[in-house]
Amino acid sequence: MRLIRSVSALSAWRRRLDREGVFIGLVPTMGALHAGHRALIRAARLSCDAVVVSLFVNPLQFGPREDFSRYPRQLRADAALCRAEGVDVLFAPSREDIYPAGFSTVVTVPAVSRRWEGESRPGHFAGVATVVTKLMALVRPHLAFFGQKDYQQAAMIRRLVADLDLGINVRVCPTVRDPDGVALSSRNHYLTSAQRRAAPVLYAALRAGGAALLAGARSAVRIRRAMQRVVSSEPKARLEYLAVCDPETLEPLRRVTDKAVLLAAIRIGRVRLIDNMLIKR
Ligand code: PAJ
Repeated sequence: MRLIRSVSALSAWRRRLDREGVFIGLVPTMGALHAGHRALIRAARLSCDAVVVSLFVNPLQFGPREDFSRYPRQLRADAALCRAEGVDVLFAPSREDIYPAGFSTVVTVPAVSRRWEGESRPGHFAGVATVVTKLMALVRPHLAFFGQKDYQQAAMIRRLVADLDLGINVRVCPTVRDPDGVALSSRNHYLTSAQRRAAPVLYAALRAGGAALLAGARSAVRIRRAMQRVVSSEPKARLEYLAVCDPETLEPLRRVTDKAVLLAAIRIGRVRLIDNMLIKR
C-alpha cells in the first residue's frame, strides 16, 4: 500500500493509471476507521482493480460548535487497517493541500440537503459536497462507495454526481451495526457507558416505525408516532427529528404507498446520533 500525503503525488499516481485501463474505486473517509468503513473498503476491493481510501477530516463540514478539533485522528491504526484490507493508496492530504490560500468554491445541492441534517447542521452538506467533488476530481474513480448510515449524504452525492455529469457510479453499502443495533460511528466513543446503554433506542424506534408500516399503517403521522413513543421511553434521549420521506428526494411523505426512508436523529447528552431505515413494501 502507498501512503500519499499530497495532492501533487496523488495526481501523478493517477495519471500513470490512465494508460493502464485500471478500474478505480474511491472510499472517502475522515479516518478513525471501524467495521463500517471496512465494509466499504471490502466492497471496493471486490469490484475494483485499484482501491483508494481518502482520509481527511474536512474542516468545512463541521459547524463552529461541533467536534472538529476533538475528532479522533489515528493515522497509524487507519493505515494498518487499510494495508490489511489490500488498499492500494491511502490518500491523507493536509488541510493546506486541499484548501490552499485563496480557495473559495462552494458546492451545494440544495434540494436534497435542505431538510433534516441540513437544518440541524447549517453548512454541513455544502462542506461535504465541496470536499467530495474535489476528491472525485483528483482521484477520478469509476466507482465511489458510501455508507447508508449517512443516508442523506449518500442521496446528496447521487444527485451531485448526476447533476454534474461526473460519470462516476455511486454505490451505497448497508449500515454496519453493533449486536445491539447501534450503527457504528466514531462519535459513539464520545458516549459514557451509561449513555451507550441508552443508544439502542434510536434503531429500536426505526424498527417500531417499520413494524407499524408492516402492520398496515400508511399515514406518516401514525408511523412517526410509533417511533416517537419508543424514543420517549428512554429518558436519556432527546429527539431532534423523525421523518418519513421519499427515498430519493427526501421530501416528507404524508402517506406511504410503495417505499419510504425513515430518518431519525437524537441527542444523548451532547452526542448527536443519526440512523435510518429504508422500507419497500
Ligand atoms: P466518515 O464519517 O468517516 O464516513 C465515511 C464513509 O463511511 C461514509 O460513506 C459513511 O456513510 C460510511 N459509514 C460510516 N459509518 C458506517 C456504518 N456503520 N456502516 C456503513 N457505512 C458507514 O462521511 C464522511 O466520513 C464524510 O462526510 C466524507 C464523505 C468522507 C466527506 O468528508
